[in-house]
Amino acid sequence: MAAPDVSSRSLAELISLAGRTALVTGGGRGIGAAVARRLAEAGAGVMVADIDKAAAEQVAGEIGGRAIGVELDVTDSAAVEAVVARAVAELGGLDILVNNAGIFPIFPVLALPDEEWDRVLRTNLYGAFYCAREAGRQMVGKGGVIVNVASIQAFRAGSPGLAAYTSSKGALVSLTQALAVELGRHGIRVIGVAPTYIERRDRESLHVASPTAGQEGRAPHLLFHLPLGREGVQDDVARVVLFCASDLAILLTGSTIPVDAGQLAV
Ligand code: NAI
Repeated sequence: MAAPDVSSRSLAELISLAGRTALVTGGGRGIGAAVARRLAEAGAGVMVADIDKAAAEQVAGEIGGRAIGVELDVTDSAAVEAVVARAVAELGGLDILVNNAGIFPIFPVLALPDEEWDRVLRTNLYGAFYCAREAGRQMVGKGGVIVNVASIQAFRAGSPGLAAYTSSKGALVSLTQALAVELGRHGIRVIGVAPTYIERRDRESLHVASPTAGQEGRAPHLLFHLPLGREGVQDDVARVVLFCASDLAILLTGSTIPVDAGQLAV
């Protein structure tokens, strides 16, 4: 399925997601919630999926309209199948998947327990794979977009205490390429976004168990100088995800885009 030439369409048409549907994992707060809001604002029907059901329902309720909040643990492939089927049935299809659910516990590498290594890989990598596989099955014949939320850590492992996380996100960048190569002929684009440190209002998933961890759960080395002079906020990432999901980015696939305030440049 060749990518159509959309040059004659207006900017407003190209960014519009009217008539499209999206599933956002980890959408109950943080970057995922910001993504769900922007996709809905662009006209998409959005399923907000999170291991925290109440949070997913709250975000969907705030969005209103066609948004639906559901419980999903992305590490459970049967649950992923059921939620994708539900998105198709209740929203009328699935055009966009945003693999955003992720965890980032901090442990010094020599004290990293097996179960933490497994938990991070299962959530950040296996979960993204399960969702992409199931969404991809639905998109074959119709086309679609999969956006994987990676991390700048995938390119520059500058922050100690994140060995499992860094490995999971590096593999997610490779998975993005592999999916793009295999699914492109079905009209399915697969894109990564790699944020720098993004401000979080809550810190629950940042398990601080490291002497390298700094105040408020932030590793001191994360307070690096960024060319743009500030860390990101959640909506900075959400707007790039919206761009990737829209027809503005119709020739974009296989790449992972740093959203990093210039971090990779220094
Ligand atoms: P967050 O911790 O605020 O939100 C993550 C959401 O994922 C939560 O609602 C949580 O309940 C959900 N979640 C966790 N495990 C899940 C599972 N097994 N199944 C379904 N949902 C699950 O995190 P934040 O900051 O919004 O991060 C979102 C994504 O962005 C993650 O993939 C993270 O690695 C990535 N990222 C974040 C950066 C940051 O500085 N905050 C920087 C670079 C990447």
